[in-house]
Amino acid sequence: MKAEITINATSSSYKALVGKNILEESLAEYLDDKNADKLFVLIDENVFKQHWGFIEPVLSGLVKQVHYLEVPQGESSKSIKMWQKTLDFLLNEGIRRNIPIVVIGGGVTGDLGGFTAATALRGVPLIHIPTTVLAMVDSSIGGKTGVNHTTGKNLIGSFYQPDMVIADIHFLSSLPKKEWINGLSEILKYGAIRDDKIFKEAEIFLEPDLSSINPEKLIQLIAKCIQIKADVVEEDEFESGVRAFLNYGHTFAHALEKACDFDTISHGEAVFLGMLAAQKLSTLTGGRLETTKLDLYRSLYAYRISKDELSYERLNEYMKSDKKRTDQHIKFVLLKSWQHPQVKTVENEAFINQAWDVVFDEL
Ligand SMILES: NC(=O)c1ccc[n+]([C@@H]2O[C@H](COP(=O)([O-])OP(=O)(O)OC[C@H]3O[C@@H](n4cnc5c(N)ncnc54)[C@H](O)[C@@H]3O)[C@@H](O)[C@H]2O)c1
Repeated sequence: MKAEITINATSSSYKALVGKNILEESLAEYLDDKNADKLFVLIDENVFKQHWGFIEPVLSGLVKQVHYLEVPQGESSKSIKMWQKTLDFLLNEGIRRNIPIVVIGGGVTGDLGGFTAATALRGVPLIHIPTTVLAMVDSSIGGKTGVNHTTGKNLIGSFYQPDMVIADIHFLSSLPKKEWINGLSEILKYGAIRDDKIFKEAEIFLEPDLSSINPEKLIQLIAKCIQIKADVVEEDEFESGVRAFLNYGHTFAHALEKACDFDTISHGEAVFLGMLAAQKLSTLTGGRLETTKLDLYRSLYAYRISKDELSYERLNEYMKSDKKRTDQHIKFVLLKSWQHPQVKTVENEAFINQAWDVVFDEL
């Protein structure tokens, strides 16, 4: 089974393909009319270890030369230093405007590789091959690329759409369970803001052994999430309106990540907690959310945070210094009801603290 989604961004239109063992046919389809004799590959180091033996022959069968660079795993690779290293690699090896960069990995490699593709020679063709659940349903779609700055995450970057996204679930066979659950948070986010059925469909993640997850159901779920992101990006590519809804739970999450120095909590865990807090704040500010939707999934998340590190005052300060603030009041994506998001400024700090209570009860 293979699903195909077209992303019609203002700047360009491209396909996302989702399936199992689709790498070779999808790349061949892309390269068919491109006249490219070589490819440049940026690949996450763990994906390299697990899958290069399979990827390399596929690529070598399609082009004469394959140049590759391993990207060390972890957020620290989204740095100016690593961006410079990838540019050095491309330029020293003789990149030309018509030669595509194939970026294989999770969101870290994807964001770094996307930004490198956007900036080398003022833009070279880019193919994303996401290998984490998060990258498949979220970061490889929509064209946000970038690296971090010492003053904050994702502060340097650009909007740059790929030519194609190939989400081959074969790669997930080696993905650690923790990373599956990180990706689940973004899937549940789509459930909250767009499609109630996702809360049921995501139950495949409750399977104790994720390697035996039903491939067809997984492909359908990933494809559905990509379609939702595609619809949002089509409406608002440069985040001046509805694209903000994709940040549901993220204002709380970013403050939590910062308070934990991006160390003891993962992004996915923070987003899950952030959605619990956003649900509470939605209710306190007039939202009608009679049913809870996330309870079933709580047990999948294992937090290692010490409550002592967190104070409401500090967390609220972090939210105020986030990019999405207005003056001293914080803007949140909240729900009027399930699947009906809105951006709302909340002035009542007592309500915000009650939302944090929900998070603290979890820890
Ligand atoms: N551009 C966007 O729109 C967007 C959206 C959401 C998140 N992001 C960014 O994405 C990043 C997080 O992405 P992520 O969660 O994919 O993390 P990641 O890229 O760090 O990958 C997580 C871990 O999984 C490993 N890994 C990846 N694929 C694997 C595989 N198939 N088998 C075994 N190990 C594998 C990696 O080596 C790493 O250790 C953050 O930097 C975030 O800011 C970007």
